[in-house]
Parts: sequence; structure tokens; C-alpha cells
Amino acid sequence: MSRPRRPEDLVTALLDWFAREARDLPWRHTLDPYAVWVSEIMLQQTQVKTVIPYWERWMRELPDITSLAQAPQEKIHKLWEGLGYYTRVRNLQKAAQHLVRENGGEFPKAFDAVLALSGIGRYTAGAITSIAFNQPSPILDGNVIRVLTRLFGIEENPKDKATNAKLWNLADELVLAAQPVPLSPRPSHLSPFSISGPCSALNQSLMELGALICTPKQPRCDDCPLKKPCVARATNRAEALPNLGKRAAATDRRFVAFLAQRDNQWLVQQRPAGVVNAHLWEFPNVEVDAETSDLAAHAAKLLGARPAQLNPLVMIKHSITRYRISLEAYLVTATKGVRATTPSRWLTIEELDALAFTSAHRKILTALRHKTSE
Ligand code: ADE
Repeated sequence: MSRPRRPEDLVTALLDWFAREARDLPWRHTLDPYAVWVSEIMLQQTQVKTVIPYWERWMRELPDITSLAQAPQEKIHKLWEGLGYYTRVRNLQKAAQHLVRENGGEFPKAFDAVLALSGIGRYTAGAITSIAFNQPSPILDGNVIRVLTRLFGIEENPKDKATNAKLWNLADELVLAAQPVPLSPRPSHLSPFSISGPCSALNQSLMELGALICTPKQPRCDDCPLKKPCVARATNRAEALPNLGKRAAATDRRFVAFLAQRDNQWLVQQRPAGVVNAHLWEFPNVEVDAETSDLAAHAAKLLGARPAQLNPLVMIKHSITRYRISLEAYLVTATKGVRATTPSRWLTIEELDALAFTSAHRKILTALRHKTSE
């Protein structure tokens, strides 16, 4: 069986498919490199459907590099609240401030200048310069790795240095092969000319194929524009690739949070710089052993006074990287003498609402709001 895998043929199949199937996403209606940049940073660790309302709000509130550079830190944290990985938003602002200082507030066009910005790695620089400027810069992220390892039947672990380099080369070959191809048909359901050219369309077609067809589980191979040349499909290896090696086992971690009340105010603290979720707000909390039962002792240490009673409010479960975290929130009664042992504030629920909370503690706050309005 012949399986043509000439880059030109792959490109034609991908561009035709993208013209028909590209999702209508809000950042596909602009060529403003700032808007594309914001979308790519938000999309780094977060799903498209989550990002859409965040991106739209962000672009309304901070429509250009200068407004981002000047925004108070609380504002950018609040706009990012719920997206997680907050280093992303601080780097975004740091880069914007750099561009205002050094580049007249303009986003650079040269790939190396883009790559030099805070928070921008090779993938993101490739995505922005191809999407906004139609430059032939390759992209390789989880989606693209899946598409390419399957298409070419690459059995080695894509994290291995040599294999990773090979995958970047394949991505490079594809985007270079796209460069001279006229963009016809254009995706007619997107704004005219909102796709800057074939390099943009090719890179976005790889992302899109990974998101819609070449999914981690149960890929929709029958609907794939690359089903004929795909090695993994022919050898029934699609679900087995990419070969990511053994995952580190998940670790359970248990946290408890204490909700201390004084009149109609609640005690909260801000996380320090340099830790996960730095600068975000949370209720006083501590990590404890799975077996710990004397939670009041922990409360005493955190609050400076042993509570008479702890009433369970809610238990939040979430996962970050390889950690499976449970967070138990308790209402503290008899809080006489309570004073936080870290910098903290007593605030009403309305005031708390205006702060940027970590996702887990935002859920506690929601439970608290329901409880207090009962
Ligand atoms: N994932 C990363 N970048 C993306 C983009 N521009 N559109 C859709 N999904 C993406």
C-alpha cells in the first residue's frame, strides 16, 4: 500500500480540512498580535471553551499593550482568576511593560524578539508569529505531538531529546511546505482575511486536528483528512501513541482550611510571592497528614486560639500536576482571640468577592455565600 507522506500533500489535505472545519473562535477574528499573544498564553494550560469568556473580557478591559502595562496587579489577577498558573499573567504584564519601555508599546515582528519576551517559549513564539504575521515558524505542543507521532508512526518517547528535535523538524517541514500555497479556499465562516496566510492556517490546522479528531482517546480516524497516510491508523497504534513513558504515580495530599468569623467579616490571607498561586487570596489553611484527627490543634496554630468547635462546611477535590488534593473547609466557632499568624485581613463576603482567590478557595467562598444566605 502506498502512503504518500510528501509534505506538500499533507499540507493540501490539512488546509482543505481547516477551511471547512476550523472552529469559529473569537481570536480567529483578529490579526492583532497582542490579541493573539493573550489567547496563546491563556490556551497554554487551559481548554478552549474555558478560555473564550476570559479572553473576551480581557480584551474589553485591557485592549492593548499599554493598558496591560499600566494595569494594577489586582486587576490582572482578578481577570485571570480561575485560569490557574498565575505566573503566566505576571509574565504577560512584565513583557508588556518591557515593550512599552523599549519598543514604543509595539509588539515585535522578529521571531527572536518575540521569543525573548517573558513567558514566551518556542511554541508560543511560533504560534504568534505564524498566526499574526504568517511567518513560517513551526509549532509543537501536546496536540501537535500527538498528530505527528501518529501520522509518522514515531514510537520513541517525544520527550527524548532526539525525538523532540525530530518532531520540531517535521513541524518545520510542514509549515515551510505551506508557505507558497495559496490560501484557497479560505475558511469562509471566519472573518475575511482573519487568517493571515497559509503558515497560520497550517499551524492552526495541526492544533485543530489534535483537538477535534486526533484526540488522546478514541480518535475519530474515519473523519481525519490524514487517514490515508497515517501510520498509526494503518498499524492500529493510534491510541498507543504518543508513547509518553510511565507517568509518575499520583500522590494524595490533604489540606484543611479554617473560616473564622468576626461580626460579618471573615479572615483571609494573601499568598506570598514565589510560591504556587502567589499573590492570590485564600482562607488560612495547612497541609496535614491523612490520619490527623486533632484539627483544632492545627487551627490553634494558624489562628492563635483553639476553637471550641469546628463545623465542616465543604470538601473540595482537585488535581494539580501529579497531586490529588482534598481541601476540607471548617467553620470556626468561638473565635475570640483569633488573630492570623500571617499578614491577613478581615473582610465581608462582598469584599472577598472582589479579590482574586485560588480556584479551590473560590469554591469555599461560594459554599460560604450559600451557607450564610440560607
Ligand atoms: N491551542 C493553542 N493555541 C490555540 C489556538 N490559537 N486556537 C485553538 N486552540 C489552541
